[in-house]
Amino acid sequence: MKALTANELRKLYIDFFVSKGHRQISGASLIPENDPTVLFTTAGMHPLVPYILGAEHPAGDRLVDYQKCIRTGDIDSVGDPHHLTFFEMLGNWSLGAYFKKEAIEYSYEFLTKHLGIDPERLSVTVFAGDENAPRDEEAASVWKSLGISEDRIFYMPKEDNWWGPAGETGPCGPDSEMFIDTGRPACGPDCHPGCSCGKYFEIWNDVFMGYRKDENGAYNEMSRKCIDTGMGIERTIAILQGKKSVYETEVFTPIIAKVEELTGRKYGADEEDDMSIRIISDHIRTSVFILGDQRGVAPSNVGQGYILRRLIRRAVRHGRKLGIEHAFLSDVATVVLSLYQDAYPELKEHEAFIFDELKKEEAKFSDTLVKGEREFEKMLPNLMKGTSRTISGRLAFKLYDTYGFPIELTEELAKEHGFTVDVKGFEEAFQKHQEISRAGAEQQFKGGLADHSEATTALHTATHLLHKALSVVLGGYVKQLGSNITAERLRFDFNCPRPMTKEEIRQVEDLVNEQIQKDLPVTIDVMSVDEARALGAAAQFDAKYGEKVKVYSIGDFSKEVCGGPHVEHTGTMGHFRIVKEQSSSAGVRRIKAVLEK
Ligand code: SER
Repeated sequence: MKALTANELRKLYIDFFVSKGHRQISGASLIPENDPTVLFTTAGMHPLVPYILGAEHPAGDRLVDYQKCIRTGDIDSVGDPHHLTFFEMLGNWSLGAYFKKEAIEYSYEFLTKHLGIDPERLSVTVFAGDENAPRDEEAASVWKSLGISEDRIFYMPKEDNWWGPAGETGPCGPDSEMFIDTGRPACGPDCHPGCSCGKYFEIWNDVFMGYRKDENGAYNEMSRKCIDTGMGIERTIAILQGKKSVYETEVFTPIIAKVEELTGRKYGADEEDDMSIRIISDHIRTSVFILGDQRGVAPSNVGQGYILRRLIRRAVRHGRKLGIEHAFLSDVATVVLSLYQDAYPELKEHEAFIFDELKKEEAKFSDTLVKGEREFEKMLPNLMKGTSRTISGRLAFKLYDTYGFPIELTEELAKEHGFTVDVKGFEEAFQKHQEISRAGAEQQFKGGLADHSEATTALHTATHLLHKALSVVLGGYVKQLGSNITAERLRFDFNCPRPMTKEEIRQVEDLVNEQIQKDLPVTIDVMSVDEARALGAAAQFDAKYGEKVKVYSIGDFSKEVCGGPHVEHTGTMGHFRIVKEQSSSAGVRRIKAVLEK
């Protein structure tokens, strides 16, 4: 096997698929555009859902990219040697251009010839078949034709070998996963790829998007079948480099070295310290990517900002645990930036924002800790009155939940005053809270990755009209800083140093409604980024040089680079009304608006 670095693997993968006729496309923002149902981009295919569903992609029908992803289902369990909140995914897609045979052949060729993996160490899984779709003999026979012996092909049920739909309905299909056999003995007769004993490492997943699940739960065969594949960079380089954990690869060792330097602790010397070191490294890395994203957000109490806040605070807490008393996040962030600024130029572009926000949040949290300590002192006289010398789990959880006060600190303070803490009770309260928030997250996921209902489509077009209207009324300096659409309303953030006047709000509403009444046609043109720029199309130009993009025009009124979808004519949209204009953060205003029928 070739002990490739992340940079080498990224390049090798892209070059390989380009040599097979694929076009490299830019990875998308970590923050999904116009998709209210998930907070972050969770897989390489996520930004491509509309195209898998049938829309034409401007770059063609064979695509390849690397995509930054975040999965924060359970932040509080990150800390073990294998979980990451941020990771990169390599992927190649066929939008009706090729299917199983070519996809598997490409995978096999890349794994064996380019990564130098011994075919004897490859094991694969295919779908075992059920009432919805047949046993995947087709995929198995392609693997066999390439030389994978029968005993290395495992037929697995839907739970293991079916991917999607991402929401309740949409494209999905059987998949074929590729594993490296570590050579360790099997844990038992049922040991198989996907078993958690550690014999097999998953490295790549080819999804055969051949079905569309509908509202009735039926799986309908799609007329245009697509391929979606995903290879996690961090876990793959760990396997190639023969490392036991992703934290031992070069994308983490410089970060960990910095944490070691700051704390004077050595990674690998103490299990509990190791966990804190991993948490600090992982969380600051993820925070840098959220802050430095092309649609980056600041810490806050909602949505992505809240996740970011939790990541930062958890890192600070573990820093304290390791004895760091001063601000340290920027020191670690500097290392993250130097590791990733070539692959992700947006990080360098937003450098000032990244460091400013980290510093602010770190200082704010230090204040919170001080306040929490004060709060604790206030509770003391009452606690002293009782006979029990135990602080209840409920109270400890309240300190944690309300003041972000870590249980370790509660225990420390308690001890100083002759108290113990009911840690078990705290953990129970904590667990209960987590179940509630997990249920919430699942609910959110169920909504579907891409809600392209009539209502959101119309609000999407309204967003373009609003963007243009704002620049007409307020001035050409107005730029979109964020957009979020639900079925009920649109939300639009833009730069403006002051509140809008009532008159300005009315003018913007009128201008938008005028365009709706004119029943303007909405048209799409595919062109290069430079052509779009030359036309003056509004865009967050994060696309690669020379890359083709879609430009949506609404009559002559607005031109924007965008993935769509949009209404075909504005006349059907309804009446546009701004329901709120408020401050979002310094220099940023936020508009919430609705379309009324
Ligand atoms: N969508 C599949 C995954 O996330 C393959 O890319 O594993």
